[in-house]
This record gives sequence, C-alpha cells and structure tokens, in this order.
Amino acid sequence: MELEGVLTILLGICLAIIAAWKWRHKEGRFPPGPMPLPFFGNLLQLSPKDPPKSLLALRDKYGPVFTLYLGPRRVVVLCGHEALKEALVDHGEQFCGRGDVAILDRSFKGLGIVMANGECWKKLRHFTLITLKNFGMGKCSIEERIQEEAQYLLEKFRKTKGLPFDPTYLLSCTTSNIICSIVFGRRFEYEDKTFLSMLDLTNKLFFELSTPWAKLYDMYSGIMQYLPGGHKRIYNLLEELKTFIAEKIKVNQETLDPKNPRDFIDCFLIEMEKEKGNRSTEFTMDNLVLTVLNLFTAGTETISSTLRYALLLMMKYPEVEAKVHQEIDSVVGANRTPAVKDRMNMPYTNAVIHEIQRVVDILPLGVLRKVTEDTEFRGYLLPKDTNIITFLGSVLYDPKYFSDPEIFNPEHFLSEEGHFKKNDAFVPFSTGKRACVGESMARMELFLYFTTILQNFSVKSSLAPKDINTSPQLSGLLKIPPIYQLCLVPR
Ligand code: HEM
Repeated sequence: MELEGVLTILLGICLAIIAAWKWRHKEGRFPPGPMPLPFFGNLLQLSPKDPPKSLLALRDKYGPVFTLYLGPRRVVVLCGHEALKEALVDHGEQFCGRGDVAILDRSFKGLGIVMANGECWKKLRHFTLITLKNFGMGKCSIEERIQEEAQYLLEKFRKTKGLPFDPTYLLSCTTSNIICSIVFGRRFEYEDKTFLSMLDLTNKLFFELSTPWAKLYDMYSGIMQYLPGGHKRIYNLLEELKTFIAEKIKVNQETLDPKNPRDFIDCFLIEMEKEKGNRSTEFTMDNLVLTVLNLFTAGTETISSTLRYALLLMMKYPEVEAKVHQEIDSVVGANRTPAVKDRMNMPYTNAVIHEIQRVVDILPLGVLRKVTEDTEFRGYLLPKDTNIITFLGSVLYDPKYFSDPEIFNPEHFLSEEGHFKKNDAFVPFSTGKRACVGESMARMELFLYFTTILQNFSVKSSLAPKDINTSPQLSGLLKIPPIYQLCLVPR
C-alpha cells in the first residue's frame, strides 16, 4: 500500500478514536428527560416556589433516573430508595464527588470538607470524623454536654411565662453551643454579641441559599456574576463568617499547647505544624477556616430548624404530643434529665422523632454530588463530573416504603406490637461514603432536646390545630420552617 493510503487509514482511525472518546467523555449516554430549550433548559418545567414538587412530576413521566437542564447546566436526578441506594452505596466511590455549586465557588474554591473533592476531601473527612469522635461525638461526654445545654434552654423557656414567642433564636443558640463546644472548645452565653452575629449570619445564609436567586446564579453564573442581587449577599455573608472564624483561630494559635489540644481548631493547628514541610498538604489555613465554617453552619441550622418544625408539629398534633408526654412520664419521670439510654425504652417517642425528620425533609434535594469518573449506571453512561441531584425527599416520601407518605403518622416507624420499626428509606442524612458526618450527634441532640422540652412543657398555639400551617416559608437548599408563635405551658 502506498504511503498516502496508510496515512489516510491512520488518520481515519485517529478521527474515529477521537470521536469515540468525545462521545464517551462529553456526550455520554444520558437518561431520558424533558426536551430542553436553548438557554432556558427545562426552567419552564420547574416551579420556582417548590422545585421538589416539579421534580416529582418529572419522575412520574420519565422514571426514577432522569436528565434535567437547569438553564444550560445538565444534571441527572436520582429519585426513590432503589436508585439512590444503587448509586450512593453500590457505586459509592463513583458517586462521592461534590457537585459544582457556582454560588459557593467564589468563597470556597473547592476547599473545606463540604465542597472539597478527591484527596483533599478524603483527608479532611477522615480527620473531621476522628476529631469529632475524640471530642465526644456519639459518646457520653457529648451526651452530658447536650443535657447541660438543654437546662440552659429550659431556664430561658421558663422566663417566657407561658406567653407566645418565636423559638427560632433560642433554639439556634442552644443547638449551636453543642458544635461550638467541640469546634471552639466553649459554649457562649445566649446574649454574647459575637455569637449572636454568627448565628444571624448563618440564619441569613441558609435563607439566601434557599431563594430562587441562588438557583438562578447556579444556572447562569457567567452572566449573573456581573449583576447585582441575592448572590452578592451570599458572598458577603460567607466572607463575614470567615472573618469571625479567622479571629477565633488566631486566639487559638496564640494560646496553643500542642500537648493539650482543647478543641477541633487546636487539633487542626497541630496537624498543620506536623505537615509544615509538605507542600501538597491539605492541612492549610484556608481548609481550617472553611471546615470550621462548614461544621458551625451545618451543625447549627439543620438541627435548630428540625426542632422548630418538631414543636410546630406537636402544636398541630396534640394527640401525638399527649402520647409522648405519657411515655416520658412512665420511662423518665419528672425528677431526672432524659438520657440516650432511655431511647430504647421509648419506641413511640423515637418513632415520632423519625416521623418529624421524614415529613420535614429538611434538605429535600440533598447536597449536589457529581460522579468522579465515567460511570455506567443502569445502562446509561454518565461522563466524569456529571452533576447529580440526590432527591432525598423522593425517598422520604416514597410510597413503597411509607404507606401514607403525605400524612404525619408516627405509625410509619412502629410495628403492630408498638415496637420501633426501622425503615431503609429513612435517609434525611443521605447515605453512602459522603453521608452527613454529624449524624450521630444530630440524632442525640434531637432526642435529648425533644424529650427534655416535652418533659417540662406542653406546647400551645393561639390557633386551632387545623389552622396551623406547617408549609415551609421557603423551599430551596433547605426547607425553611414557617415563622410562628408558641406558648410553653409548664407541666
Ligand atoms: C438534623 C440534622 C442534620 C441533617 C438532616 C443533615 C443532613 C446532611 C445531608 C443530607 C448532607 C449531604 C450528604 C451528601 O452529600 O449526600 C450532610 C452533609 C454534611 N453534614 Fe449534616 N446534617 C445534619 C446535622 C449535621 C451536624 C450536627 C453536623 C456537624 C457536625 C453536620 C455536618 C455535615 C458535614 C460536614 C457534611 C458534609 C460531608 C461531606 O461532604 O463529606 N451535619 N448533612
């Protein structure tokens, strides 16, 4: 064969390989989904007020795994227990990347445990889990800290003298003090100005992240970064929080005794010192500030919002509250503080707390993930870095696992004999390698706060139960509970 012919064949092979590579890596074989419009994608199919509801409608049409265009951005949505488990557990390694959240990018730049990927994430997660455990997460020492903090809360609650008040600020202070004890080595008075500023910033941050502005920015960041709007507020809130945290770290640095680490920050500083000569270390000041920011914000807002919903639901369902009162009275009594060991003797209360977390569905769409490599999944090919929505709400409301998913009913977690019944579709903390690192602490807090409050008070509303609205004021990243007034009547 002539040289020219050989070259032509070689060129043909090269082009075929490049085309195949491009197809595999760029185009993939994506799940079905609604036809996107240029620039707008599938925006017209999504309700800005209630995106999860629109996603459920699309699931009914396209099945549990479908492709969606948020503006020009392509994402794959996973719905229902089977699809989520198959992806996050069975293909755990491939689905453990954190997705691209443009609105957070400018502040996080892929650093800090929540937004990190690859080696950086692995190192930060391992260190965070070990350090949280060393400071008592999941153990008696944190249990005692929560019991003590709950008493401070009761003191404040007693001062309301049965008059109506909004519990938001007190619940934020008390739950935040638990993560503060680990991260900053201390609790704060509920009147402490710096503490209140940090809580206010956190509260505003989650509110802003749950508005349609945040979603719009994620879709059209290229244009929106030049326009004014809510996204600028998110950036400013994060920068302010970073400044507060950096100041706290400075105090730790000045008083550090490497033999006696007092808190998470000290442990991280010691690790930084050990790795001083390593140029590729993940133990950097930026990672410290952002990981502390992650723990403080995630550890405060999720639990306090869940407790806000919990008290609201008890006002709406007084018959459930009465049964919880009964169980507390017979198992704990009035003369000692509830303890974690009581949980196994309190199946009804345990079921109520699970049911609260299920219906509240605090992070309905989870936190965006992405695949870490080209991934074959259910006959589709998802190219590396494909963003994935883990639709946790579709699992918590999966009719295959909960007989009446729309109804608040603790029986969802009770056997016929009244024993607590586990349910695999209970995934408020997500599942797999990247599930919530604070789960055991959060579960302990929810149980101890809920039982301690109801041991001491009955909740009352000025509205009739049927008129109490439990719909979130905003549903985005977080389902933000409605603002309401509550009366606590001593028992
Ligand atoms: C009711 C309370 C809580 C709920 C419902 C909750 C839920 C979640 C969910 C759904 C995720 C996303 C996991 C994923 O990517 O699939 C997450 C991640 C995370 N949570 Fe929580 N969380 C709660 C409390 C806490 C607490 C108390 C802490 C602090 C210790 C915490 C720290 C974190 C961190 C650091 C991550 C990121 C983990 C990673 O990317 O590896 N959370 N949480």
